[in-house]
This record gives sequence, C-alpha cells and structure tokens, in this order.
Amino acid sequence: MIVDTDTGSDDAVALLLAAASGLGDIRAVTTVAGNVPVDIGTRNALISLQIAGRTDIPVHPGCARPLTRALSSAQHVHGQDGMGDIGLPEPAAACQKSHAVEALLAYPREHPGELTLVTLAPLTNVAAALICDPELFSRYRHVYCMAGAADLRGNISPTAEFNVWADPEAARIVAQAATPETVTWVGWDASRKDAVMTPTDQQRLQQLNTPMATFAHRINRTVADWARDVTGLAGYDLPDPAAMAVALKPELITELESAHVDISVAADTRGQMIIDRRVTAPAPNLTLVRRISETGFKELLFATVATPVVEAAPAGAGAAS
Ligand code: RIB
Ligand code: CA
Repeated sequence: MIVDTDTGSDDAVALLLAAASGLGDIRAVTTVAGNVPVDIGTRNALISLQIAGRTDIPVHPGCARPLTRALSSAQHVHGQDGMGDIGLPEPAAACQKSHAVEALLAYPREHPGELTLVTLAPLTNVAAALICDPELFSRYRHVYCMAGAADLRGNISPTAEFNVWADPEAARIVAQAATPETVTWVGWDASRKDAVMTPTDQQRLQQLNTPMATFAHRINRTVADWARDVTGLAGYDLPDPAAMAVALKPELITELESAHVDISVAADTRGQMIIDRRVTAPAPNLTLVRRISETGFKELLFATVATPVVEAAPAGAGAAS
C-alpha cells in the first residue's frame, strides 16, 4: 500500500489503521500540502508512524501547493500544526530525499498491479504523476481516495469537501483518468453518517489508555470543536480513517454506486462534484462509496489503537550476519 496524505489529525488515525491493524502493508507514505503546509504534514506523518512503531516506513515529501492555486490550508480546523497543537515532540526519523511524485510513479513500475494507493489529501501529487504517466492507474491494483461529497453537503464550503475543494483542478484530472474498476472515492457523506466519534466513543478512546488511543484522542480535540461549531455533527468525524478502513476491509462498504463525475472549478461551486445520472450521461468514471458499516469501522478502529505497539526493525536493518 502507498498512502498519500496531508497529515492532519484524522490522517494520523488513518496511518495508525494502515500501520498497526495487521491488515495493511505500507510500503511508502507520500505527503502533500493540504491541511497544513507540506513540511508540517511530513513531520506529522513521521510522528504518526513512530507512534505506530513503524519508523521503517519511508516518507517522501511532495507538492507544496495545488496545481494552479495558492494553498488554502485547514489549520483553522486541525490546529496550526495539524495535530491539535498539543506540543508533540519532533519525530526520530527523517523523510526521504526523493519527491512524492517520483515515488508514486516508481513504486507501481517496480511492483506492477500489486500496490493499492490510498489518498487522504488534495490530489495534487496524484494529478502531477498522471500528467507524467497517463496510464498510472493501470499500474496500481486499486486507488481509494478520501474525496468529494456525493450528496453535495460540503464541509469546507456549502457543497464541497476539502480535499477536492483545495485542488479542484487536480481532482478533475484524477476523475478524468479514472474508471469505476480502478478508482473508488469515499466521500465526506459516508464519513459524517457512519464515522462520527460521539462523546461516548471519545470517552472509550480516552479510557483505553494505550499510546495509540491516547494519541488519537488528544490530536483530535481541535477538530472536535470545529465539528461542534461549524458542521454540527454529534462529535468529530474521521473521513480519512473511514476511507482507509474501506481500503483495508472493502466488506465494510454497505452502499455504493458508479457514476460519471466531473468537478466544478468555478468560483462559487469550486470543488463541487457534478454527478450525471441521466440516461444520456457519459460512461461512469468512479465508484462512489455512499455508506459503510459504522460498527465494523469502529470495531476496527478500537481494536487497532488498543493494541500495544511493537517497534519494527529500523529501515535497512538486515538480518544479523
Ligand atoms: O474533507 C476531509 C478531508 O480534508 C480529510 O482528508 C481531512 O484530513 C482534510 O484533508
Ligand atoms: Ca487528509
């Protein structure tokens, strides 16, 4: 699995699921500007992998801004450091020197058809890779994106979801290169319906009192305030962990559809999904997950963060000679 992330507080929980659930095998993480500037997102990815005991996983820093627009971060949602501004210590590991786009191109060439790509961020890196290699999606086994809001109820605007809104041109390039067989979008609609951490869930997380559970609880305090004050949810939602859970356990999907999707780049509808379900619509280009099993998702989340952390061997540590 390759994970592309703008490591904010929900991305961090998704990285714990991928690294510590026992269901994922992360080969590399690529970072991109989104929730926070890319250098902060890279730091946060290294911290999250360290909490999961996986300092061996390479992290490749990526694009520092959207394809054509200036970066509009979500630091007002996730905190200035993207992790709830709780003063996390600097990570022990350093990131790679090779760029995220190079990694997104190289890994599937080395392992054709074997790797799953999970994107948890604006699609800038992926779009840049597609411009270099228009056949990119055929080299991955499948691509899961936390992207969009298929019911047009937005989080960052009245009708748009942040990852698509932050770089709509990139999202449009991804949608145009996709087929329903290769690319699945898990939208904010599924997350706000089936992946909301209620006060009871938050208390359960806090009471687990394990390193990963405590980390997950503490870094999401800022986003909990945002959910209460802006989106009006019954707690904070976990969109990236929901998308990661689908990639790890597709059987969690309870409702999906395939449709033809374009993305608005117009000012007042920036990032809105334009879904054509008419008889005369073009052929579908995306599979859209509309609902997931809330109980199945939360069972996976609590089971993962409840486990003690087993430190992986440091990168490059060969067998004892
Ligand atoms: O809209 C939710 C998405 O935007 C998530 O990926 C969250 O981390 C932010 O990037
Ligand atoms: Ca994200």
